[in-house]
Amino acid sequence: MTLLKLDIYAVRNIQKQSFLPSPGINFIYGDNASGKSSIIEAIFILGRAKSFRATSIKSVIHFEHSELIVASQIELANGNRGQLGVQMDGKHFSSRINQQTSTNRADLVSALPLQIIHPKSYELLDAGPQLRREFLDWGVFNNDEQFLLAWRNFKKALSQRNALLKTKQVRHINVWDKELAVYGTIVSEYRQQYTDKLVPVFKQIIGKFLDLENIGLRFISGWDESKLLEQALAEDLDRDLRYGFTHSGPHRGDFQLLINNRLAKDFVSRGQLKLLVLSLKLAQVQLIINEQQRSTCILIDDFSAELDVTNRSKLLDYLNLIDCQAFITATEVDEFGDLTNIKNSKMFHVKHGTIDQVQCSTWNTQAKQEIGAS
Ligand SMILES: Nc1ncnc2c1ncn2[C@@H]1O[C@H](COP(=O)(O)OP(=O)(O)O)[C@@H](O)[C@H]1O
Ligand SMILES: [Mg+2]
Repeated sequence: MTLLKLDIYAVRNIQKQSFLPSPGINFIYGDNASGKSSIIEAIFILGRAKSFRATSIKSVIHFEHSELIVASQIELANGNRGQLGVQMDGKHFSSRINQQTSTNRADLVSALPLQIIHPKSYELLDAGPQLRREFLDWGVFNNDEQFLLAWRNFKKALSQRNALLKTKQVRHINVWDKELAVYGTIVSEYRQQYTDKLVPVFKQIIGKFLDLENIGLRFISGWDESKLLEQALAEDLDRDLRYGFTHSGPHRGDFQLLINNRLAKDFVSRGQLKLLVLSLKLAQVQLIINEQQRSTCILIDDFSAELDVTNRSKLLDYLNLIDCQAFITATEVDEFGDLTNIKNSKMFHVKHGTIDQVQCSTWNTQAKQEIGAS
């Protein structure tokens, strides 16, 4: 899946801009506060209908506008072309995928698989389990579309059961216990199988960046694993009624990254943590390529804040190899490093929310001058 033309309207300081990205790597540079992260944010919104850095979409919409729009002409792996668009006004969102209107986020997620790496990505391993569940679920969903139905049924059963627990309607809980146990178990099995598939790919990728032995992921289902979920729910009933919510289930699921059987986040450096997260995310991308011959759009915001020179160059080599579309930002051209071996790329300069393509000959000369000057 490739974005051929991007139209951004009222996203932060970008009022109205159109540009034609490369199907390969797009390098975007510009001063602080010029609008680089806003471009990344706009593309992220196109694939997820939410921001990666703001909880409320209201703050993302340009001050003088009441809604934002991001649209793109796309090319699918089979060569077919189509349209993708999303419109958000802070309360509602609607998307258009090839003339079909949808208010379902999952439709966007499958139409435009995208992966983001930004300065707070390390939180995947450092913060609470919510991000890790989302990480797993995004991966499972892009691996097997059947997952979504089970996941929706599980979510529905959970919210119905929680509503009954809050109002202490014990009589009807049984029905939802069964639904929750069935779909919760399916969701958890999907996650477990996905984790098992991800591990070897992850190990291969982390090997490019770090020399770590005995590394692995431990999947956590979200309930006492010596029991079936149905049993755990039955045994929890008194406690669940007392607190008014369900204690056991995939909504408590998680995974841990272990090195020599110790929790990695407790002892690795911040730099290593970033590389572990980067490799986990690239492993998800690689798994989609391996299993479905589909590509993922990769967004990397603040390239040099994320990685040192050597690892930046390793990452570029990797992106160059896997032939996917990427958007990478930095404040200066030379932060991207040596680009002579990059097969397919474009360079864009951003200034006060305006995006201009810089011709290859210009940025090569400019990069050389900047490198030479430093
Ligand atoms: N809702 C908004 N409307 C207009 N401008 C905004 C809005 N939110 C943020 N900005 C401005 O957009 C500019 C670009 O921000 P950003 O994309 O984060 O810059 P960069 O990543 O290039 O440093 C900043 O000057 C910021 O103050
Ligand atoms: Mg930024």
